[in-house]
Amino acid sequence: MLLIHSIASLRQQLSSRQPTHSVGLVPTMGALHDGHLTLIQQAKEENDLVVCSIFVNPVQFNNPDDLARYPRTLEEDCRLLETAGCDVVFAPSVDEMYPEPPLLKLNFGELETVMEGAMRPGHFNGVGIVVAKLFNIVQPTRAYFGQKDLQQVAVVRRLIRDLSFPVELIRCPTVRETDGLAMSSRNRNLTSAEREQAPALHEALTLAHDLLREGQSTTQAKAAVTGFFTNHRSFRLEYVEVANADTLQLANEVLAPGQTAICLAAHLGNVRLIDNLVF
Ligand code: PAJ
Repeated sequence: MLLIHSIASLRQQLSSRQPTHSVGLVPTMGALHDGHLTLIQQAKEENDLVVCSIFVNPVQFNNPDDLARYPRTLEEDCRLLETAGCDVVFAPSVDEMYPEPPLLKLNFGELETVMEGAMRPGHFNGVGIVVAKLFNIVQPTRAYFGQKDLQQVAVVRRLIRDLSFPVELIRCPTVRETDGLAMSSRNRNLTSAEREQAPALHEALTLAHDLLREGQSTTQAKAAVTGFFTNHRSFRLEYVEVANADTLQLANEVLAPGQTAICLAAHLGNVRLIDNLVF
C-alpha cells in the first residue's frame, strides 16, 4: 500500500496504471472504523485499484471546537487500510489541498434548507468543494459513500449530475455496533456513560419506523420521537424528520418502498450524533 501526501505524486501514480483499470475512491476524514472499512471492502470487490483519502477538511466544519476535537489517527488508519487491502492512501495536508482558502462557493439549493443543511450552514459547501477536488485529482470510476450520512449522498449525487463528473456513486449501508449505535468517528469522543446511552438514538428511529409501518402519520411518529427524548434527558434532540431518501425533501407520508427516510440529529454531552433509517 502506498501512502501519498502530495496531489502531484498521486496524479503521477494514478496515470501510470493500466488505462483500462477501474479506480474506486473512498473519501474519509480518518479515525477509521468498520463503517469505513466496509466501504473499502466494497470498493475492492468492484474495482482494480482502491484509493482512500484521509483529510480532515476544515472547510466543512462550521464549529471550530468540533474541528479541533476531531480525532486524528493516521498511523492506526494506515494499518487498518493495509489489512483491508487498500492500494493507495492519500493523506494531504491542509496547505496541499488549500494553498489559499477557496473563493468558490457551492450552494445546493433546497438540499441546504433542511436537516444537516439547515443546522450546519456552509457544511455542504465544504463537502462539495473537497469531494469535487478529490474527483478531479483521482478521477475515480466509482466513489463510495455511507448511508449514515444520507444527505451527504444526496449532495454528492447532485454534484456529480450538476458538474457532469463521470463517476458512479455507490451508497453503502450503515454499519452499526451490536447495540445498534451507528459507527462514527465522533463516538470516540463520548464518555463511557454517554456511550452506554447512545444506542437510544437507534431505538428512537426504530420506534418511528414501527409507528409508520403500523399506519400512523409522520406527525405522530415524529411526536413519538420527541416524547421518547423527554424520557432520555441526557440527549438534546435537534431534529427528527421524515424525508425522501434520494432528494431529502421532507415528506408528509410514507413513500414507495426504499424511498422513505427517517433522519435525526441529537446532542449527547459535547458530541453531536446523526442517524437515519431508510425503508
Ligand atoms: P467521514 O465521516 O470520515 O466518513 C467517510 C465515509 O464513511 C462517508 O461516506 C460516511 O458516510 C461513511 N461512514 C461513516 N460512518 C459509517 C457507518 N457507520 N456505516 C457506513 N458508512 C459510514 O463523510 C465524511 O467523512 C466527509 O464528509 C467526506 C465525505 C470525507 C468529505 O470530507
